[in-house]
Amino acid sequence: MRTQVAIIGAGPSGLLLGQLLHKAGIDNIIVERQSGEYVLGRIRAGILEQITTDLLREVGVGQRLDAEGTVHHSIELVFAGTRHAIDVHGLTNGKVVTAYGQTELTRDLMEARSAAALPTVYEAANVEVLGYDGNNPKVRYQKDGQTHEIECDFIAGCDGFHGVCRASVPKGAITEFEKVYPFGWLGVLADVPPVSPHAIVYANSERGFALCSMRSPTRSRYYVQCPLDDKVEDWSDQRFWDELRLRLDPEMASRVITGPTIEKSIAPLRSFVAEPMRFGRMFLAGDAAHIVPPTGAKGLNLAASDVKYLSGAFIEYYQEKSSAGIDTYSERCLRRVWKAERFSWWLTSLMHRFPDTAGFGQKIQEAELDYVVNSESMSRSLAENYVGLPLNFGA
Ligand code: FAD
Ligand code: DHB
Repeated sequence: MRTQVAIIGAGPSGLLLGQLLHKAGIDNIIVERQSGEYVLGRIRAGILEQITTDLLREVGVGQRLDAEGTVHHSIELVFAGTRHAIDVHGLTNGKVVTAYGQTELTRDLMEARSAAALPTVYEAANVEVLGYDGNNPKVRYQKDGQTHEIECDFIAGCDGFHGVCRASVPKGAITEFEKVYPFGWLGVLADVPPVSPHAIVYANSERGFALCSMRSPTRSRYYVQCPLDDKVEDWSDQRFWDELRLRLDPEMASRVITGPTIEKSIAPLRSFVAEPMRFGRMFLAGDAAHIVPPTGAKGLNLAASDVKYLSGAFIEYYQEKSSAGIDTYSERCLRRVWKAERFSWWLTSLMHRFPDTAGFGQKIQEAELDYVVNSESMSRSLAENYVGLPLNFGA
């Protein structure tokens, strides 16, 4: 088999890159380790920046997003038992974020890919990326007991944090930066109306962080900060709802509608960046190259901006015979990635309870939060990062 771009991973970054390349007439094959149903079963992100929603429309998968996504104009910060709105829309000259589940976005992209009859190999075992430091890269994998090879011009490593692409790079050629946080997020999904259908709520309390989000007017997504060694089994639905209420302001707590949860999971929090993001003819994109703690909802959106830059670079290469985009890919991505890393780290630091700073740390956080909500420049800084910095920021 031969293609122009072999994409490893059928998560949001691989699928979106595949559509962007297809629209530009560039052949691509996606090789994914899991089955399609498995990929669709992962409940993860839910808040999309305008750059991401624009990209989805650009590749022709905006219909359901526009019909079913919920546009948010503001967020709310809760601290010291009181709620404060940040008018994100007003502070950014009209920018918004949209609540639309990663599962739905993935489903839309998968359907568009199969409608265009683009090749995707699911359940590929032992995927290997070979020869990307020369001119003839190859992807090798096993499927149904047979070994297959794809020859290609380029490899796009869209295979997430635990993927094979970054892992295949010799240690001396890559630098990794990492910060691990001393807590996790327990997330639940429940078919109950969200307590805050018009704004995402971030709460700082002495008992720890809580977040109220949604997937639709009838489906809520909530998170609470929890110790890293907690198990999902430790958290009955009742315990979760009680804890969530204790972390919100009393008025909002009284309005939380509870019900059986349909998903419950614990995720550790991590900041991670691998540099560079290009190795000869292999390019990393999305979680394969970087992870942010979820506070601020940047992970999926960074994956989308990486593949926007990468598709632009490949289009320049094939249509204009220029390697300028390819040569600057890593630098352009990392410039944006580090700003999102900084923002996610800052919002995580501001909103969570840290075991080592207890009382003093809590008071400093409350002072900073008071500053953020009452200073227009601080609110604007939060808002412009929350909706996503422009793709050409600072250029
Ligand atoms: P992935 O989604 O990880 O996809 C990688 C794919 O590669 C997977 O399908 C995997 O099976 C496949 N793969 C792995 N190894 C191999 C291999 N060896 N061979 C072939 N295929 C392979 N982000 C936001 O923007 N907003 C949010 O609100 C948000 N909330 C989050 C909440 C939680 C609880 C979590 C865990 C994450 C959240 N994120 C959020 C982050 C977001 O989910 C990720 O950043 C996003 O999934 C990255 O997409 P990706 O395609 O790069 O990687
Ligand atoms: C969601 C996740 C986030 O990390 C966030 O900051 C806001 C919302 C969500 O899953 O809806």
